[in-house]
Amino acid sequence: MAEFDFTGELSQVIAQLTAAVTNTSLYSPEHPQVAQYIDRANSGLANLLQVKPEVTILLIGDDLVAENRALPASAAYVATFSKLLQKKAIERMTFVAGLPRAELQGLIRDLASPDAAPVRSSGFIKLGKVELRVTGAAPQQEVPAIQSVSPEDLQALQALTANELGELKEIYLRIKQHKKLDVRGIDDVVKGFIKNFRQEINPVSLLASLKSAHEYTFTHVVNVGVLAMSQAEGLGFQGEQLHQIGVASMLHDVGKLFIPEEILTKPGKLTQEEREIVETHTVKGARYLMGLDGIPKLAVLAALEHHLKYDGSGYPSIKGGWRPNIVSQMICIADVFDAMRSKRAYQELIPQEKIIEFLKKGSGASFNPQLVEHFLKLLKR
Ligand SMILES: [Fe+2]
Ligand SMILES: [Fe+2]
Repeated sequence: MAEFDFTGELSQVIAQLTAAVTNTSLYSPEHPQVAQYIDRANSGLANLLQVKPEVTILLIGDDLVAENRALPASAAYVATFSKLLQKKAIERMTFVAGLPRAELQGLIRDLASPDAAPVRSSGFIKLGKVELRVTGAAPQQEVPAIQSVSPEDLQALQALTANELGELKEIYLRIKQHKKLDVRGIDDVVKGFIKNFRQEINPVSLLASLKSAHEYTFTHVVNVGVLAMSQAEGLGFQGEQLHQIGVASMLHDVGKLFIPEEILTKPGKLTQEEREIVETHTVKGARYLMGLDGIPKLAVLAALEHHLKYDGSGYPSIKGGWRPNIVSQMICIADVFDAMRSKRAYQELIPQEKIIEFLKKGSGASFNPQLVEHFLKLLKR
């Protein structure tokens, strides 16, 4: 049986919803043409909601994000639907299984109305903002929100980061020796993090510090994992999606294992040729992961795209105006932050304010501005 293309189906639903809204503004919600679009969107959503109990569309900046992917901004319906959401200040739209057609019709009518009246959530459609969840907000995960972080909590989490570091190192070394990846091991590390993570902890307090240049890759991937998962969790990614983001972030630099150690640990500046060799870790990593079973596609993309900038510059150069995945964009910020804060063979320790300045400067060009803003909020916790 052909695999159910969830993202493809969801794009179709968004296209139908967009057509329903634009046609409602022209005709009436009862017009047969409008009714047809609503019917199609409704049955498409029902199919999706059979696979998952909830389907969420996020608006991050101008990007529509569904299933961890920014939908192609070049598609007309994506641009129109983003504008509709922007106009009504909706950043998160969640459809819940059991959604009655009448409720969907109500949403479409509200989205089509020209007045600025806010669109309200209803029983099966939850609307909201993409922002940091505050303590006491509706708990959306098994881990209960706690009021404050005790020194013991913090210590336990720091110990966890240290454990993750050990396990990740093992996994990475095994890849290097046998070229075989222990996916289950990575899964366990990510699960451990998600289970123990507390929302109001500043993720920087959990970062492992680098002891030697040889340890850099392991320390770095754990830290990028912590920073990317904190961002994702704060943006409302949950469950399987959050898990996949964790796996992807911990594997983003797996291609470094195929770069000669002397280059990676070389003190001083790299030559042009050496730099080009280092840059191949993106393509090498993606190719390696692509050939393995049980690896989320997201991990392949993150390995490939994490040095691609928000505006499409960076490396590797990919033709056709390719833009990095929203998760790769989060990893890119985490990556730069950790690389700058870790004392490397060729650079001195950079104070956090300098790194923040760098991120702000690159916001909009190198980095997704909304994600930078959100990341900086996490650092102020
Ligand atoms: Fe990298
Ligand atoms: Fe990296």
